[in-house]
Amino acid sequence: MTDPIKGKHILLGVTGSIAAYKAADLAGKLMQAGAVVDTILTKDAAEFVTPLTFRSLTHRPVITNLFDVDSELAIEHVGLALRADIVLIAPATANVLAKLAFGIADDALTTTILATRAPILVAPAMDAHMYDHPTVQANLHTLRSRGVTIIGPAAGRLASGLVGMGRMVEPLTLVEYVRWNLGKHGDLHGKKVVISAGGTEEPLDPVRMLTNRSSGKQGYAVAEAARDRGAAVTLVTAPTALPDPIGVNVVHVMTAQQMHEAVVNAVHGVDVVVMAAAVADYRPASAADQKMKKGPSDSMSIDLVKNPDIIGSVNGPFIKVGFAAETQDLIANAKSKVISKNLHLIAANDVTATDAGFGVDTNRVILIDRAGRIEELPLLSKYEIGHRILDRVVALLKPGA
Ligand code: PMT
Repeated sequence: MTDPIKGKHILLGVTGSIAAYKAADLAGKLMQAGAVVDTILTKDAAEFVTPLTFRSLTHRPVITNLFDVDSELAIEHVGLALRADIVLIAPATANVLAKLAFGIADDALTTTILATRAPILVAPAMDAHMYDHPTVQANLHTLRSRGVTIIGPAAGRLASGLVGMGRMVEPLTLVEYVRWNLGKHGDLHGKKVVISAGGTEEPLDPVRMLTNRSSGKQGYAVAEAARDRGAAVTLVTAPTALPDPIGVNVVHVMTAQQMHEAVVNAVHGVDVVVMAAAVADYRPASAADQKMKKGPSDSMSIDLVKNPDIIGSVNGPFIKVGFAAETQDLIANAKSKVISKNLHLIAANDVTATDAGFGVDTNRVILIDRAGRIEELPLLSKYEIGHRILDRVVALLKPGA
């Protein structure tokens, strides 16, 4: 299983907002993800960006005028509508939202929208006062009620200089929405998955703590991969610098004890637990109420007490996947954790490697199951690692596995 965008037909509608220039970047990102992108520019959009821009990016003809008899796609708009796996209108002006709400079909884009049965996502972009207008809000309500996904808008400084709601969300966020939508009926559809991420923080005093180098990237990537296969995902995360992934229920915690409580609460009725978090095995026996002051002695010792073994302590009719962060004897250490923590599968990674483990966007993982069978994965993105782990989970979920 790979990125649900790969090979899919995406119909990108671009309308006459200043944010139209971002649609070019969006088209490029969709192409990079492996999509086939067909673009329809409204007449007003073509005032902001040229068809040549999109044709150069997508290597496909661009529709601008339904009645351009020379356009090889003019009568093809119905074919486009039927071939589309998903329709994304970004940016979506107040005008096109009104046309969609009332079924007006007076140009290539709105005609194609009426002819498609694919999921429709719109990314509104307009000035704050327009967005707040009751008619615009009523049209958005109408579209939502018909199952159209409204993405954003974001708050921020607008072209008019006003600050408020009306900025189109960023292209990367739009790509995430497309990925999530296209993956909804994937091979984890209907499954509940709990994933942990990040490095727990064990307080010493109000200022200091014991923690580790986990950025959360690997756990977040597993969560996104599970989301993109249709799973209902709960991500229990220690503090990270990462934005909450869209389409995922995120539970923020700090300490190992809080993570333990959150995971125990989340596993009711769950199908899969994947523990990618770097959990502190010990915490300070007591955290000082005030900032500890330097004393006369040249040394200081801290009493540590054990934290709960989270993945080891949750057991039930669900698949358990752990990670092993090792600096030596990777296979042997990982194998012993499969047994001691009663796992179905473990992803072992050598955290001393510069292109794997903590903080980087790639990882090199060895998958070991409870029979001791080893599957060595090449260096992959952490998102692809997530999919490879979930490929094994899907096999384990099959009856009789
Ligand atoms: O977050 P990144 O920067 O992307 O880095 C990714 C990662 C290196 C953190 C990740 O790939 C990884 O290896 N995560 C597991 C880190 C860890 O705590 O490994 P461990 O060998 O110490 O623990 C073994 C397993 O038991 C892990 O699944 C861990 O989540 C779990 N555990 C550990 C201790 C504890 N008290 N409770 C647990 O559940």
